[in-house]
Amino acid sequence: MRSTAAPPSPNRPVAARLLAWYRRHRRDLPWRENRDPYRVWVSEVMLQQTQVERVREFFTRFVERFPDVAALARAREQDVLKHWEGLGYYRRARQLHAAAKQIVAEHGGDFPRTAAELRELPGIGRYTAGAIASIAFGEPEPIVEANSRRVIARLVGYGKPVGGAADEPLWSIATALLPRREPGLFNQALMDLGAMVCTVTRPRCDRCPLAASCVARATGRTEETPVLPRQRAAKLVRETAVVLRRGNSAVVERRGPGEWWEGLWDFPRAAAGERRRAGDRLLGTVTYTVTHHRVTCRVVERRLARAPAATNNRRLVALAALDRLAMTAPGRRIARLLVASAALD
Ligand code: ADE
Repeated sequence: MRSTAAPPSPNRPVAARLLAWYRRHRRDLPWRENRDPYRVWVSEVMLQQTQVERVREFFTRFVERFPDVAALARAREQDVLKHWEGLGYYRRARQLHAAAKQIVAEHGGDFPRTAAELRELPGIGRYTAGAIASIAFGEPEPIVEANSRRVIARLVGYGKPVGGAADEPLWSIATALLPRREPGLFNQALMDLGAMVCTVTRPRCDRCPLAASCVARATGRTEETPVLPRQRAAKLVRETAVVLRRGNSAVVERRGPGEWWEGLWDFPRAAAGERRRAGDRLLGTVTYTVTHHRVTCRVVERRLARAPAATNNRRLVALAALDRLAMTAPGRRIARLLVASAALD
């Protein structure tokens, strides 16, 4: 007897099965409301290193404040960084801003339409160029990122290690699979399938439109595929932040070129070996992770007898105004500790 829900036909091409699945199950995401290249670009840059759910909230606020490429090009860098606060990897925000200025200056404000031209812009690599060209302009450009790479590797039973230059064969396979019609939807479908069905652990193969063609599944190797490069172990670091306080204000410093969080504000750190001084008060400890470092940061408050001289990158700021600064992730948490302890003074 035939079952009413026929299994997906393995004879139907992969792209057709995937697109049919996507029409029913696609995630409703704010950057999918239209194909405006500006919105696609902003979302793809945010998604480079940040999870979809987190991007969702930031994206809407960002495009409300900077609704098009001209508005972003006109903005002050501090304002752009402020709207990026909490997303991490701030170089992305600075490059987005620089690219907006370049699009206005060199392309009259019109988005370049081809992947090759898009890659001339700061912060747009092969993946992001492919995503914008395919999603916004319907160009048949493939994309390989964490989710689509996993789907493709499992589908063909790719047993070699992946990552960086080792992804090259997967780019070729992604190109071969790409349909001429709706390449942008196909690319988004690959990513959604990877995020929702073809997950890293315990993939839901029973719900997968490609299961009947999947080599990793047929050979019982889904969870071992793809073979990922080993993660570097995080280095443990200790540091002390010194909050220099004067009345209801505190000293903040802006991170310079080459430092983590360039352009963002934070509180000064004690020099290596610097002793605790009489009168220093422990406010608490914050822990954070930044590029392969796991940092434990003690926070002490030190009262200043005199207001320090301000420079371009060092200022005395009222505690009530800390919220308006673009701050590093640990800086924001130190600010919260400070404000909470000042409320008890
Ligand atoms: N990850 C990166 N880009 C994405 C997109 N456009 N849709 C879903 N997940 C993604």
